[in-house]
Amino acid sequence: MNTIANLSRVVAGMWRVMRWNMTPVELAGFIEACIDMGVTSFDHADIYGDYAAESAFGAALALQPSLRARMQLITKAGIRAVSPARPGHRVKHYDSSALHLRESVERSLRALRTEHVELFLLHRPDPLMDEDDLAREIEKLIGEGKIGAFGVSNFTAREFDALHACVPLATNQIELSPFHSAPIENGALVAMKSAGITPMVWSPLGGGRLFDEKDDAAARVRHALQHIQAQRALSSWVSVAYAWVLRLPSRPTVIAGTRRIEGMRDAVEALDIDLTREEWFSVWEAARGRAVD
Ligand SMILES: NC(=O)c1ccc[n+]([C@@H]2O[C@H](COP(=O)([O-])OP(=O)(O)OC[C@H]3O[C@@H](n4cnc5c(N)ncnc54)[C@H](OP(=O)(O)O)[C@@H]3O)[C@@H](O)[C@H]2O)c1
Repeated sequence: MNTIANLSRVVAGMWRVMRWNMTPVELAGFIEACIDMGVTSFDHADIYGDYAAESAFGAALALQPSLRARMQLITKAGIRAVSPARPGHRVKHYDSSALHLRESVERSLRALRTEHVELFLLHRPDPLMDEDDLAREIEKLIGEGKIGAFGVSNFTAREFDALHACVPLATNQIELSPFHSAPIENGALVAMKSAGITPMVWSPLGGGRLFDEKDDAAARVRHALQHIQAQRALSSWVSVAYAWVLRLPSRPTVIAGTRRIEGMRDAVEALDIDLTREEWFSVWEAARGRAVD
């Protein structure tokens, strides 16, 4: 089984970091606390925080450079967003060209203040992708030691297989939660499992939907999770939501998007919860609003 660049099974997601309004000192403290509890991998993308998140992380890291050796960094590129930070972009689009990917990797390394990232992902499938051009550039970036491994994000099973035939892919980072279970039904997870590839899962709590008081499906899922928590005398029902993803036989890595160390602890505690089939299906049934056929 592929171990995706030695990532921790729970990864800290940096998508929302600019909204956390942490000072570099506070962010360095958060990073260190994550590492101390075994969350050693940090998920970035060039576009996060309107192209500012990687620099904020790099500034925090500069305060405690010794943390770098204890962590794995993941970043992504391939989306050109319309932003004041990129005045040349007039239309939001995908760009998997060799030139763009190289420029993006080199810019990310400068922002993160590191010589290399352990894992680099193509953020979205690009309909105009030239697979051979991309494969050659990825090989060069790996050869130069700038990226440890390459993978993709948001690829369907077919898109994954097609690119995997041209360049070895370490993972496919996909959205998955009780609210977004398409990858369970459309073959994306099965394809990765049969190829020996470990998926990475984003928005495992539905991007916070799980906590929405006005959302009926969320209320049902909370109820199902709290029932399991009570039966097992667990300290947190949120851990059960992470355990729902971790229970899948493809053994996904989960990317937790919380700004709170206690929230990160919920994810780590899920590693010790092995849901029964009935528990797992009760959560899925709650999200679907009906039993499986
Ligand atoms: N590849 C892609 O296309 C893609 C797309 C989206 C995201 N991602 C990655 O996946 C990561 C995770 O995504 P996500 O942030 O949407 O994940 P998530 O973990 O599903 O949602 C995080 C949200 O849930 C909230 N939350 C967590 N525990 C809570 C609690 N006990 N009570 C109330 N609210 C709680 C968090 O708020 P608090 O901070 O207040 O806890 C945060 O707003 C991102 O950071 C990014 O790295 C990748």
